[in-house]
Amino acid sequence: MAFTIAIDGPAAAGKGTVGRQLAAHFGYAHLDTGLLYRATGRRMLDGAGAVEAALNLKPEDLKAPDLRTPEVGQAASRVAALPEVRQALIDFQRAFAARSGGAVLDGRDIGTVICPEADVKLYVTASDEVRAARRLAELSSTGHDVTYESVLADLRQRDARDSARAAAPLKPADDALLLDTSKLTIEEAVRRAIELTEARMKK
Ligand code: DC
Repeated sequence: MAFTIAIDGPAAAGKGTVGRQLAAHFGYAHLDTGLLYRATGRRMLDGAGAVEAALNLKPEDLKAPDLRTPEVGQAASRVAALPEVRQALIDFQRAFAARSGGAVLDGRDIGTVICPEADVKLYVTASDEVRAARRLAELSSTGHDVTYESVLADLRQRDARDSARAAAPLKPADDALLLDTSKLTIEEAVRRAIELTEARMKK
């Protein structure tokens, strides 16, 4: 049976962690759709045209080592504002969502555009300061030399661009369930996401 869980929210809110663990709990496949935009942004930084890059993405492009850097995140946010880039990535995401074993997708427009019929929609948020602190810890642990202030500014700039764009802007779907992870540990956030999903499954 195809059961789809759509997770959206601003940068570094915990979508990826919640999505991965939710998928593991239910035995579903997980797609971090931000990686599609990051891989496209990476190729644009290398000199490729953004639309061309999106149309020709290969599975191995999603495994490039430096996709998580702030520089690639900004490039991803810029290419993500182009309707042709978004269009080029739609079919892959929808096919992933429709797989028979169940799927969890996280991104910015999953509940609103990619999977408006998703069985469960979560909108995961956290305060700017908490998100910046988490992203700083993540980047520092992987050897990146960044400051709290630069990470906070980077997140705010990306969120502003992702929310203001005309094509599939970041926003909660009307029927999304809100999950604010500001005061939650990872375990608590995942447990809450499982509870919200199970409540929907019973309906
Ligand atoms: O989730 P992330 O931070 O890795 O995403 C990087 C950028 O990609 C983000 O700033 C906006 C874009 N993005 C998008 O527009 N739509 C998605 N479904 C996922 C990511």
